Amino acid sequence: MGNGSVKPRYLKRPDSHVGSCPFGCSRCSKVLKDPGLSISTITGAADILRSKIWELEKELKRQEEELHERNYHILELQEQLAKQTRTISDLTEELKCKCIQLNKLQDVVVTQGTNPFLFSTLIETPRASQVAGNNRRRGAKEGVSAEPTTRTYDLTEQPRFSFEKARVRKASSEKKLITDALSRNQFLKRLDPQQIRDMVECMYGRTYQQGSYIIKQGEPGNHIFVLAEGRLEVYQHNKFLSSIPVWTAFGELAILYNCTRTASVKAVTSVKTWALDREVFQNIMRRTAQARHDQYRNFLRSVSLLKDLPEDKLTKIIDCLEVEYYDKGDCVIREGEEGSTFFVISKGK
Ligand code: CMP
Repeated sequence: MGNGSVKPRYLKRPDSHVGSCPFGCSRCSKVLKDPGLSISTITGAADILRSKIWELEKELKRQEEELHERNYHILELQEQLAKQTRTISDLTEELKCKCIQLNKLQDVVVTQGTNPFLFSTLIETPRASQVAGNNRRRGAKEGVSAEPTTRTYDLTEQPRFSFEKARVRKASSEKKLITDALSRNQFLKRLDPQQIRDMVECMYGRTYQQGSYIIKQGEPGNHIFVLAEGRLEVYQHNKFLSSIPVWTAFGELAILYNCTRTASVKAVTSVKTWALDREVFQNIMRRTAQARHDQYRNFLRSVSLLKDLPEDKLTKIIDCLEVEYYDKGDCVIREGEEGSTFFVISKGK
């Protein structure tokens, strides 16, 4: 049984990889690979491993916390994105509403002249999102009054408008500048390109002396202008609002919305403008509305269900008709929704 001395026990290596540190630590690996390891050496290596594990656990916890924070941040961003998407959708609806109102306005200008009641009811239509919250069906016609505008194209009562007589010759470079000015205006840019072209054709030069008022707040509006030369300033209740840059359209609000002038416009220097008379503007709108009316009538008459309808009833339908566009795959009607609209397919399947 030997001499009673205790021989040091050696670490067995059942296979080759036991001799390396699982964490890749070179010091541990060296110790573990040593065939003459003592108990104290092994204890030391275990301590090293323990502290390594502790460090790694700490690091893991830190990384988990960081991941948690990032996930939370992603959630916040997703919420923000959803909110912004909702805002964009609301604004898009509002814009659509305004376009529809403007189209209606054109029709009313044509038929009702300047009936303030009709204009104000159309302009004050609530936002689509206020009407139906955020669950509005795409393409649905919120904000469009179902009341007919009782359009009667009684052209005999009005003096016939001659576009040729209203036309004023001008250089094509000037036409381009006027067109750009009208198209940049946030209200006028919604008009048809043909209407803009007609407006440009009928604008005529008007000059104003330094210090004079081109527009006075509170007065009725008789012209739409484009500034060609000089400096203009806008005042509201004698308070300066802004300057008008050259080649900008102004004076459109009172004409489009049949209200009095919302601000005064004063010439800081002598000024040259291009002006369009209100009546000419209304006649240009009438031409388009009448063409649209005829087009709608022909279309509706081609629908078998409507072809025998009395003329006055068809006119009422035309008054309420709006063109809606749908992309491939869009849902036009959803099962279970309240039915407030009927559709006539003009094109597509
Ligand atoms: P209208 O109201 O017809 O007549 C005054 C015009 O001044 C108005 O149309 C706009 O074209 C213009 N206007 C009104 N407010 C401002 C403003 N804050 N800045 C620049 N132009 C304005």
